[in-house]
Amino acid sequence: MKLRKAVFPVAGMGTRFLPATKANPKEMLPIVDKPLIQYAAEEAIAAGIKELIFVTSSSKRAIEDHFDKNYEMEDRLERAGKEKLLKIVREVLPEGVSCAYVRQPEALGLGHAVLCAMPVVGNEPFAVILADDLIDGGNKPCLTQMAEMFHEHQCSVLGVQNVARDETDKYGICKAISLAENLGRVEGIVEKPAPSVAPSTLAVVGRYILTPRIFELLETTGRGAGGEIQLTDAIARLLQEEQVLAYQFSGKRFDCGGKLGYLQATVEYALKHDELKSAFEKYLRGLSID
Ligand code: G1P
Repeated sequence: MKLRKAVFPVAGMGTRFLPATKANPKEMLPIVDKPLIQYAAEEAIAAGIKELIFVTSSSKRAIEDHFDKNYEMEDRLERAGKEKLLKIVREVLPEGVSCAYVRQPEALGLGHAVLCAMPVVGNEPFAVILADDLIDGGNKPCLTQMAEMFHEHQCSVLGVQNVARDETDKYGICKAISLAENLGRVEGIVEKPAPSVAPSTLAVVGRYILTPRIFELLETTGRGAGGEIQLTDAIARLLQEEQVLAYQFSGKRFDCGGKLGYLQATVEYALKHDELKSAFEKYLRGLSID
């Protein structure tokens, strides 16, 4: 099985970021100079993915425009001889990579969003990336690390990280049996358990590689936590039939769906940004915060 497609569920309303997300998709919020969705797309492309499938809703048109050609802007930049900017604009969607858009007509949850992508994904494995979980994998992006596990084991792989016990009710939490240092076989998974009943603190953080069997399971998965069709519930059924691995990737994850994580990512990415790092570091050092 080869991994060629990635699904980006981007239909969510982004209420944690109002009023910024009233008319703008949360996935278009920039970290320094790049929108979150572009970091997600670049992570997929780095892992060898050629087809980007966005599950959108009516207020998300800016995402389609972002990955489309902007003839007028390219023409102006070309005439003005602004080669560097022209390159930045053209490289948003590299050659050989294509985009498809599917609408999620109702906000019925992540599982439902993934199911909406079924006609475009078809009968092959695919990745799911939640763009508001921004992961700095250093030299090897998170999905590339996961794709290596997938190619080796030929089964579904979940990107997991340990979280604080009092935060288990924000995540899908796995119970896994250790196979190697960073790898476990998932024995159970539950969506947003209370800290007192969570089977562990191993949380799925916005990265999945799934076999197409998940679609059939999603079709018959009823509403779960929060009254939504949960991807986690379908994965709980998948692991009864197939091996599902939990992989503790190396890298730092920022929860950019919330204000604190977003600000932390902004500061850390600015401190790594070629044009900005020295001026920004100087500025931060000059702030007298007690
Ligand atoms: C979703 C998933 C959850 C997962 C989380 C990762 O929750 O339902 O299982 O752990 O993303 O960030 P959400 O954050 O959309 O509520």
